[in-house]
Amino acid sequence: MYECLFEPVKIGSVEIKNRVAVAPMNMQGDRGGHPTLQYMSFFNARAQGGFGLMTTGSIFCSKESSAEYPFVPYIFPTAFNAGYWTDFAEGVHSQGTGAKLFAQMSPGFGRQTGLPGVRGASPIPFDRDEIVAGYSKQSTSWMKYHVSEYANHLARGVPREMTVEEIHKEEAALVRSAALAILYGFDGIEIHSPHGYLLHEFLSPRSNQRQDEYGGFLRNRARFLLELVAGCRKRMPTVPIVFRVSGMEYQKGGFTADDIKQVAIWCEEEGADAISLSNGSGYDDNLHFFPVTPDNDALIEAHGQTLKKAIKIPVIMAGIHTPAVAEKLVKEKALDMVALGRGAIADPEWPNKVKEGRVKEIVRCTKDNFCTSMAIAGAQGSTRCTQNPNYGKEQYNPAYWPKPMKGAVPETLRKWKPGQNFKIKL
Ligand SMILES: Cc1cc2nc3c(=O)[nH]c(=O)nc-3n(C[C@H](O)[C@H](O)[C@H](O)COP(=O)(O)O)c2cc1C
Repeated sequence: MYECLFEPVKIGSVEIKNRVAVAPMNMQGDRGGHPTLQYMSFFNARAQGGFGLMTTGSIFCSKESSAEYPFVPYIFPTAFNAGYWTDFAEGVHSQGTGAKLFAQMSPGFGRQTGLPGVRGASPIPFDRDEIVAGYSKQSTSWMKYHVSEYANHLARGVPREMTVEEIHKEEAALVRSAALAILYGFDGIEIHSPHGYLLHEFLSPRSNQRQDEYGGFLRNRARFLLELVAGCRKRMPTVPIVFRVSGMEYQKGGFTADDIKQVAIWCEEEGADAISLSNGSGYDDNLHFFPVTPDNDALIEAHGQTLKKAIKIPVIMAGIHTPAVAEKLVKEKALDMVALGRGAIADPEWPNKVKEGRVKEIVRCTKDNFCTSMAIAGAQGSTRCTQNPNYGKEQYNPAYWPKPMKGAVPETLRKWKPGQNFKIKL
């Protein structure tokens, strides 16, 4: 009945065993920016639950961007945290389920809005009118954004514009960190550009007021993202590269579904292997970031098959919670994969239950957004779910611990030739 969801799909050089992914989600038990046993056990539970692809939440690539949000995990050479990441990637692969693991790399979060109610224990879901009113009152704070001396959603004020030199520095840092992630054992990478964060701010005409080659026309506003895709492709010719964007912005003067279609065409030309579609403009618009409507109707409607017709690379879409909707969309070729965020939190076994015809047993996410409320209220690293009492506590179940490696050493190590001594290129 759900055959299409369980057909394999290729993302670049890597085959994913089915069409069901864990959407990128931060706050899965990392501590001080490092992956922990809990962080790994969260993913191991979902690997065992049948997910074909699992992407981490965003990972920063430089000391400067880490200073912005100290609780976000990071990978860069002087972080000296390689051991945490290799343990993590090997631990996930040791489950032997064939699930692929991608790292979501972010060049920074930029300026996040300081809406009333965002600071402290925010009432969620937010009132849409309050969001819109808050946005228009504070729109000047969106005029410029930046990537160091950060103003984030815990702060207010108008950040200064990022210099071109800083953009190039962050680009080089992301490409280098992406290469490190692959060395640590990830199967692919994703570039984080949705939800009102830094790259989204560049894409959006309402926040991007720059007068240089990174502002103005869409091509200019997309330049930062396109240079990142091209840079990663050049450095890692065979590594799968996904880029994640919001499909729509839902804000006056914001980008449109057509703009994103064009950006997707350009990203494909630069060598991207898949697009991961999310929605909304972040903290200005939590109701599209964490939709409370059924199965992300807005995004499905906005993109339908038009995006699929415009590009050849796979389309991954978040916000689909119902197996029948997921199957129908894949069958009709409106998209290639569904990525479950809160649905994967509520039920780590979603894919297995669907495959085995146990759909009624799925513990459904109620979209009450308790998980995200906790995160926004400052409980980073320890979010909980009103439906799944074991969420956030997977580490206490030995079934989710790393397993001894069986058989041969991983392929990357097997390929190593003695003549390559000291020739790991980063
Ligand atoms: C706790 C939490 C953390 C998230 N962190 C990220 C993130 O780091 N990067 C990202 O691109 N999206 C992030 N998201 C958004 C999800 O990937 C997804 O797009 C969103 O939750 C809507 O899909 P859903 O309806 O399946 O939850 C996060 C969502 C949640 C609930």
